[in-house]
Amino acid sequence: MSEAVAAAKNISSATSSHVGAQAGGAEASYLRISAVVKKFGDHLAVDHIDLDIRKKEIFALLGSSGCGKSTLLRMLAGMETPTSGRIILDGQDMQGLQPYERPVNMMFQNYALFPHMTVEQNVGFGLKQDKVGKDEIAERVAKMLDLVQMRKYAGRKPHQLSGGQQQRVALARSLVKRPKLLLLDEPLGALDKKLRQETQLELVNTIEAVGVTCIMVTHDQEEAMTMASRIGIMSEGKLLQVGTPTEIYEYPNCRFTAEFIGETNMFEGAVVVDEPDKVEINSQELGGVIHIDHGITGPKGMHVWASIRPEDVRLDKQALPPGPNVAAGEVKDIAYLGSYSIYHVKLAGGKVVKSIVPSSRWYDAGETAPSWGDPVYVSWRSDVPVVLTM
Ligand SMILES: Nc1ncnc2c1ncn2[C@@H]1O[C@H](COP(=O)(O)OP(=O)(O)O)[C@@H](O)[C@H]1O
Ligand SMILES: [Mg+2]
Repeated sequence: MSEAVAAAKNISSATSSHVGAQAGGAEASYLRISAVVKKFGDHLAVDHIDLDIRKKEIFALLGSSGCGKSTLLRMLAGMETPTSGRIILDGQDMQGLQPYERPVNMMFQNYALFPHMTVEQNVGFGLKQDKVGKDEIAERVAKMLDLVQMRKYAGRKPHQLSGGQQQRVALARSLVKRPKLLLLDEPLGALDKKLRQETQLELVNTIEAVGVTCIMVTHDQEEAMTMASRIGIMSEGKLLQVGTPTEIYEYPNCRFTAEFIGETNMFEGAVVVDEPDKVEINSQELGGVIHIDHGITGPKGMHVWASIRPEDVRLDKQALPPGPNVAAGEVKDIAYLGSYSIYHVKLAGGKVVKSIVPSSRWYDAGETAPSWGDPVYVSWRSDVPVVLTM
């Protein structure tokens, strides 16, 4: 295990004990998912997932299409039965409980509002079915509509609302029964990008105001990073890594996570020096040595990858002395994005390295920005690379 990974794990256990202490007990897990498996025929849609969710947490399951996110959510809601494994919510085993018997509510991407009912009737529907008294329904619906700022639209039908307003009504309907667990499957998937970004923080505010524990599913990493307190990265039915947005970004534990979250430059290589405070990786792709000032534990010659984020790659026009963490190349492409540019630099061996350069970089140095075809030098500090073994 690399030290970076170990560091990430330390951070995450430190965080959890902190929150556990705040919650006032050793039992920090509100929802416990243990060894949950779901097979469809021969296909392992969910592959032995263990996950603990804390009370009032907003947790995002992030992964590409088909990796098993919805299947896991549907098992929590009781719409699919696990092939094996256990789901315990607030001390109660969910096994054998029908969806309507679970203190769980799932909000779907298409909202599934009743078209012939008003906003008020839509939100109150579940309470009416539960035979809650008229006055109490009116009161709880009004409170919920206030919370999502839809009170003045109470008499409208869904088709008279914008997409964002429908989303808020669906959320109010999901929360009015005070579920212990709110499940959101691609909650903003039906909205266009700009509205989605506006709605993300609004949704977080509402969930936090209600104080409900929430698991959301998304394939959009920005959405997960913006909304969630912790993220679980899923691939092919497996949960690869769990951590805060910062932990996942700074200390990915595998290539999949490093490449899935944000952009990175990945250099394949072999360990040539492994000392407690220093690792050197010989990388043909780089045409040189990557020096890292924190250790990994592994035999010499071990096959590894070094992940270096584009914002950590420095670009220079002047030749740098040869050495570790430096390579010469040629500017292949420049994406000018106003306050910064993304340079694509082709190294001698053909590998293209991305570097994000603030526009002020050249001005501050009294230089002009390099342009297409110019010889340049890429480099990074030795505390930057994250060594990955898988
Ligand atoms: N009812 C089903 N029957 C057979 N295969 C299914 C069923 N539901 C999902 N799958 C398969 O399980 C895998 C995971 O699906 P899903 O959980 O919907 O992925 P995601 O939500 O991450 O896109 C996919 O390969 C999908 O085709
Ligand atoms: Mg899905």
